Amino acid sequence: MNVAIRVRKSVRQMRPYHPPLEGRTDKVRLDFNENPIGCSPAVRRALAKLSSASISAYPEQETIRKKAARHFGVGTQELLLTNGTDEALSLIVNTLVDPADRVLLVEPTYAMYRFYSELAGARVVALRYDNEMRFPFSSVIEELRRAPRVFFLPNPNSPTGSLLSTRELRRILQVAVRTMVVIDEAYFEFSGVTVISWIRRHKNLIVTRTFSKTCGLAGLRLGCLFTNEELAAQMRKAQSPYPVNVAALAAAEAAMRDRAFIVRTVREVIRGRKELESGLGKLGVRCFPSAGNFVLAYFANRAKLIVATLERKGILVRDRSGDFAGEGYVRITLGTLAQTRRLLRELKASI
Ligand SMILES: Cc1ncc(COP(=O)(O)O)c(C=O)c1O
Repeated sequence: MNVAIRVRKSVRQMRPYHPPLEGRTDKVRLDFNENPIGCSPAVRRALAKLSSASISAYPEQETIRKKAARHFGVGTQELLLTNGTDEALSLIVNTLVDPADRVLLVEPTYAMYRFYSELAGARVVALRYDNEMRFPFSSVIEELRRAPRVFFLPNPNSPTGSLLSTRELRRILQVAVRTMVVIDEAYFEFSGVTVISWIRRHKNLIVTRTFSKTCGLAGLRLGCLFTNEELAAQMRKAQSPYPVNVAALAAAEAAMRDRAFIVRTVREVIRGRKELESGLGKLGVRCFPSAGNFVLAYFANRAKLIVATLERKGILVRDRSGDFAGEGYVRITLGTLAQTRRLLRELKASI
């Protein structure tokens, strides 16, 4: 039988994106900006308590959505729970972007902005951080005047670690009169800078957050999208009725309640970040100031060897050289202080 199935042009044209995600469980995972400290014990208890009745029913999310709204300080109708930030990004593109629309990014950045935009057949306009990892502010303002449909802006950005001030963000929102600005605050707890409270005032603003980082729930896939009520209602129409599973909902409730775990994680990461930055400095390795739970270091032509040597010792870090003009850029996630110290010892031995 002869069949002729056509795959959409936008999919045919995409490059496959397969981050190295297998066989990592037993390693020291400093490669994907997860929370290597783990998750709150309260989350594990909540998961253990899930009844057979709740597992076998389609998930009901309204109670948790209300609790999440209180937790984040927004109205219930201004919040969507999503299957990780990734689903929020996909939803944003599905709701706002038609084929051939322009989507603005500043690269290198989180890969899924380009992924969902290309999947939708959008035209990606990509500006770049410079070699000092500085944000190209005036070029961004210029591009916003050309009215792209969406501007994806993580704050802080990964892998550069760079952070924009609320003053700079306000300026961007003022200029973006015909553009939806998506401020991805995945690493907010480590930077302390947020614009969640602006969603009512700025109708061109969407903010996203995740439970994958500070709360350590990356494996359960849970994110949040915040925007004005009118747009949130439109987005809900474009979302499947059961995007978040019962385990993630139960975990979220426990994670939000255990604020002490969040505070401890943030403290440990920020302390580790200082130690890592100063340790790298002592080894003569350049690194860029970071407001996230990771540091971007520059190992020049030794990067590949160092990443491979660390891997042999059971420590995973992420070679991000592919994102930059030259070789040598490695992103290191902050784990526990003990893990960071072990990493520094291994680096000292191999440099
Ligand atoms: C900027 C940024 N946003 C979002 C994510 C992923 O979030 P989630 O696990 O909620 O999909 C990442 C993951 O590394 C990230 O770097």
